[in-house]
Amino acid sequence: MFAGNEAMAATAGTAWRPGLMPQQMAVPDDAPVLALAVSEVVAGGAARTLRVALVNRPDEPQDLRLLPFPPGLGAAAMLALPDLREQLRLETQVKAAARMQAVGQLAGGIAHDFNNLLTAVLALTDQLLEQEQREADRDAIKEIRINGERGAKLVGQLLAFSRQQPQQRNLLFFSELLQGLRPLLVQLLGPAVDLVITGSGRLAVKADPGQLEQVILNLAINARDAMSGKGRLLISVADVPAARIEALGHAIIPISDHVVLEITDTGVGIPPDIVGKIFEPFFTTKPQGQGTGLGLATVYGIVKQTGGYIFAKTGPGGRGTTFSVYLPGHEMAKTSAEAPPEVAVQPMPTGKRVLLVEDEPSVRTVFARGLQRQGCFVTTAEDAVAALAILRQSEPFDVLVSDVMMPGIDGVELAIEAARLAPKMGIVLMSGYAELPRHKAAGELGFRFLAKPFTLAELFEAIAASLQSPR
Ligand SMILES: Nc1ncnc2c1ncn2[C@@H]1O[C@H](COP(=O)(O)OP(=O)(O)OP(=O)(O)O)[C@@H](O)[C@H]1O
Ligand SMILES: [Mg+2]
Repeated sequence: MFAGNEAMAATAGTAWRPGLMPQQMAVPDDAPVLALAVSEVVAGGAARTLRVALVNRPDEPQDLRLLPFPPGLGAAAMLALPDLREQLRLETQVKAAARMQAVGQLAGGIAHDFNNLLTAVLALTDQLLEQEQREADRDAIKEIRINGERGAKLVGQLLAFSRQQPQQRNLLFFSELLQGLRPLLVQLLGPAVDLVITGSGRLAVKADPGQLEQVILNLAINARDAMSGKGRLLISVADVPAARIEALGHAIIPISDHVVLEITDTGVGIPPDIVGKIFEPFFTTKPQGQGTGLGLATVYGIVKQTGGYIFAKTGPGGRGTTFSVYLPGHEMAKTSAEAPPEVAVQPMPTGKRVLLVEDEPSVRTVFARGLQRQGCFVTTAEDAVAALAILRQSEPFDVLVSDVMMPGIDGVELAIEAARLAPKMGIVLMSGYAELPRHKAAGELGFRFLAKPFTLAELFEAIAASLQSPR
């Protein structure tokens, strides 16, 4: 009879069952040696150490210690293996993270292209709506616009998942943000859900407040659905000092201060066979038309982009779920910087000279037409080299509007050079990607930045703002 503890089972990948022989843990090549050694020790032989490859880790032979047992203790020999549970747990977590990253890259690439197309579609519908149209046509165009916006929202979620959403990170207290969301949460959850919010701790997190709200709302809506709108939702925020990280059992969290957000519901729970898939984009168990499966993918992307970790755990008996989000914790400095004064924005850039630089012809045409319709004098360029030539030769422009992602010299470099040539010119950069280092550079230099897809109105606003508050 052969038996083992939990550590042995996990390390050897063996489910104990009556009749199992020790050699069944080893690869066929090593099994006879192990069987022989066991029978020798059982027959009174001395203790020994064997190097054997286990069936579930054939490439990493393990030192297996074989010891005789004194008579009368109910066993003849004992096998001991190093406990690999921790290593296995880490390997699984790393594998899952790598997989999510690959899916993220794929999704991000598709989203980026769609973003460009939708930018053109939305801007064109705006233009059509500005012109005189028959009532029936206007309705159809509005319908196109609504669907285009829906598409843009989906693309935004995919970009969030692939960590390419532009971020505006501030130091903030999670618990304050949570309290501010309470009224909205109460509305969303409905009267039959008992909402309990607890917040404590002194650590701040460095995150985009809008994104964090998205995280909480997505998790809360999922919880509501899992409870069919009836039950109890507990949301808590607490500090996790570095000293308590190891005890959490999540080996991938670095040992440093964190803040944890936990959302616990009393819903149906997540079956073990799907818990590994829930963060993947388009994974949903909801009926067609009711869920896109992008909620948790968005949450995952935001958490990763913010340098954090997320885990889901189902409660005892498979009922209820807890989502835990760990974000790096920061000490908040005593004096908080004063908010910059609000700048009154003049919405329309009528009469201004605009240099528009965009490599995608459809987007360029659409924006040029939109700006002209607003009474702007527009000159276009298809890349930075052409734009610089125009800037050097023609009359001064009031504003430069440029794409960031362009072959050759990119938009940020162009903007830097343009600002040198024409220090008074307003500069607006537009891009569908959060190429983080580039955006940071742009922000530090005081350029306006506009994330695609945007509406023409948002473009006008950004232009007007760039004219009002020079760098
Ligand atoms: N709190 C929860 N309790 C039980 N199952 C959950 C919970 N949260 C998520 N799930 C499971 O994970 C799946 C994926 O969730 P996700 O938010 O990504 O998509 P969705 O809610 O189905 O659709 P969408 O959020 O796009 O409308 C859900 O369909 C559900 O099966
Ligand atoms: Mg959801």
